[in-house]
Amino acid sequence: MTPNATSNRPIVWITGASSGIGKAFVQQYAKEGAHLILSSRRVDELEKLKSDLASDSSGDIMVLPLDLSSGDTSLMKKTEEAWAWKNKIDVLVNNGGISQRSLFLETDMQTIRRLLEVNVFGALALSRFILPNMVNQGSGHIIVTSSVAGKFGTKYRSGYAASKHAIQGAFDSIRQEMYEHNIDITLVCPGPIKTAITQNSLTGDGQAFGKMGDLHTHAMDANEMLRRIWPKIRARKEEIIVSGPKERLALYLKRLAPGILNRILKRSKVV
Ligand SMILES: NC(=O)c1ccc[n+]([C@@H]2O[C@H](COP(=O)([O-])OP(=O)(O)OC[C@H]3O[C@@H](n4cnc5c(N)ncnc54)[C@H](OP(=O)(O)O)[C@@H]3O)[C@@H](O)[C@H]2O)c1
Repeated sequence: MTPNATSNRPIVWITGASSGIGKAFVQQYAKEGAHLILSSRRVDELEKLKSDLASDSSGDIMVLPLDLSSGDTSLMKKTEEAWAWKNKIDVLVNNGGISQRSLFLETDMQTIRRLLEVNVFGALALSRFILPNMVNQGSGHIIVTSSVAGKFGTKYRSGYAASKHAIQGAFDSIRQEMYEHNIDITLVCPGPIKTAITQNSLTGDGQAFGKMGDLHTHAMDANEMLRRIWPKIRARKEEIIVSGPKERLALYLKRLAPGILNRILKRSKVV
């Protein structure tokens, strides 16, 4: 399809579209009439979302299944497919990811590598392969779902915190390099959001945790999160924190009194 056929609706590619925060991004962009590319591993969930959206969304929808841990060659091909759909992508939402529920000493190195593969290398590969096209088109917006775990680590999250700190640093650098190309980078740092993240979290041996934790059962809903951050997403803010008061206080302490935060976190019961 030629670029003219897309009119001026934005073309938005969202990873982790099958669930939680990614699905909320999809629903929000659908309301705006965007053309959408939906990615994650579970093609049945993506197809179901596509058919559920058919009545709401006036944009076109492409289902593009992918595994963020499938490696550079495979992700480069997916990026080419995504771009070829409309010969244009305005927004890439790097959202797909997994968390962790295991103490460092009980965690296999393979599990830590998997967290980094999905959360870091997957997002970096898609961005690395799409950015030359965005540079050529002279515009673009990359949104990354990081976490407050990208700002400070807590127990049971060594690999997850490593992955989110890595993504923060990487996309801060990329933002500076992309400034002259009119491409914006937005890092979204949520606190606990009520999604399937805890059930899907990896335990030490790489199996799914399989349960919903207390922290997330009473947390903010993903659609509410999107409603709150949407004006800032539209304004292409560099970083958006969306969390409850506890995490906001922790972020404040991390910056101004890190010793106090460490003292609190060492004694806290995190699950
Ligand atoms: N919920 C929270 O409290 C919270 C807080 C801070 C940050 N975050 C971040 O928000 C993002 C979305 O998480 P969520 O809370 O919405 O959790 P979720 O409901 O478990 O959704 C995770 C999404 O990532 C996809 N995904 C997982 N592994 C993948 C892989 N190897 N390849 C491709 N896609 C993969 C899943 O789809 P498939 O299973 O279909 O592949 C799913 O769509 C993550 O990056 C997470 O770290 C979440």
